[in-house]
Amino acid sequence: MAKKLTKRSWAEPFKIKMVEPIKMTTREQRVKAAKEAGYNTFLLKSEDVYIDLLTDSGTNAMSDRQWAGMMLGDEAYAGSRNFYYLWDNVKKYYGMPYLVPTHQGRAAEHMISKILIKQGDYVPGNMYFTTTRLHQELAGATFIDVIIDEAHNPISEHPFKGNIDLKKLDKLINEVGAKKIAYVCMAGPVNMAGGQPFSMANLKEVYEYCKSHKIKLWFDATRATENAYFIKEREKGYADKSIEQILKEICSYFEGLWVSAKKDLMVNIGGILATRNKKVYEEARNMVVIYEGLHTYGGLAGRDMEAMAIGMEEMVQYDNIKARIGQVEYCGRQLEKYGVPFVRPIGGHAIFLDAKRILAHLPQSQFPAQTLAAEIYVDSGVRGMERGVVSSGRDPVTGDHRYPKLELVRLTFPRRVYTQAHIDVTVESVAEVFENRKKIKGLEMVYEPKYLRFFQARFAKI
Ligand code: F0G
Repeated sequence: MAKKLTKRSWAEPFKIKMVEPIKMTTREQRVKAAKEAGYNTFLLKSEDVYIDLLTDSGTNAMSDRQWAGMMLGDEAYAGSRNFYYLWDNVKKYYGMPYLVPTHQGRAAEHMISKILIKQGDYVPGNMYFTTTRLHQELAGATFIDVIIDEAHNPISEHPFKGNIDLKKLDKLINEVGAKKIAYVCMAGPVNMAGGQPFSMANLKEVYEYCKSHKIKLWFDATRATENAYFIKEREKGYADKSIEQILKEICSYFEGLWVSAKKDLMVNIGGILATRNKKVYEEARNMVVIYEGLHTYGGLAGRDMEAMAIGMEEMVQYDNIKARIGQVEYCGRQLEKYGVPFVRPIGGHAIFLDAKRILAHLPQSQFPAQTLAAEIYVDSGVRGMERGVVSSGRDPVTGDHRYPKLELVRLTFPRRVYTQAHIDVTVESVAEVFENRKKIKGLEMVYEPKYLRFFQARFAKI
């Protein structure tokens, strides 16, 4: 008897119009390439990579409309038409009246940290992000992690692991005083926690609490539409709201935000600093000319701003986000079949393999996640990235390694780039490495740069 249809599948809301060949290498070539790269996947040449899951940053496929927009670049030094289109869309989708464009997210983080932070201040946030925290520290602040405990536990199934623990925030404010808090920094979904969202209810609570202490909230809105998607899917009262409506509501609680446009906006380069505070805007508009370029281009070409503005219209389309997060979920469901441990629940932009549990025989001082990322590359040419002790860096006061609870390898999905078959190949490789995990030896660090060491550090096999 024919099998009864129990569930209908979904598919991507687009088809492929242009392709870019990728190259399969031999194991021997990859062994050599990994060694030459000091077992750091950031130091591999892209042509030696088969399926590139290093990041979803700037690696997205633009739409035909975005490419067409690239031809409409108004490359005037001042007052480009594309800038005004982008500005209109920042108002429309993020609800922020003022925009300063930047060449990417960290440039906006740099300026906002310089503007809002005084030496000796504190910045509480829902877990650190590498570049965000570094700019806060360089501006003189101490970052304090006030995310809920569940976020540090890879097996917790909490649906909103990006939430802030108000008790932690309250404790900090009681200790240092509200005047010492430069701002509360919220990202959603939280990258380092495994792409985990915060809930609207939590955001509202944090907002009310901060309002009573005259503290402002700033938002890392880099992947905000994914957070909006999770709110729609998981939070009571939001199922019938559009992504656009939810995003607008989220942003309404913040004084300002920054975006790495290389993610949600599906472009290859770009950043945004947007705010409702006119004074902060004026400072940023003045500062941008020092570091980036005039305030109507901020280090970007007119064509880049056009592609960003169009990307913003596409990022709020429900089917687009559903297909994107659906792909990550598909990968997770396949990995489950092989018993590979990864951060639960499945997050927005990536699968985060739990290297601590996979390579349980390696101490964290031997960089299990760095090791696992290198092993997967050697097995199949699939490139992921370390998100553990190397990414965490050193404590600026003691100089010791910061040993995070989460020791992860991130397999990150660029938007609209890979097919389900690419994911199957990836899953098989991870499963194979997992099967042979007991034979894997750890790494030692042989070169360590001063800032954001994970990008350029080199390792050798022990
Ligand atoms: N904030 C978040 C949450 C990010 O994920 C990133 C970049 C930035 C800020 C900085 O933006 O790269 O445009 O300067 N994340 C990339 C990643 C690098 O791979 O997760 P940028």
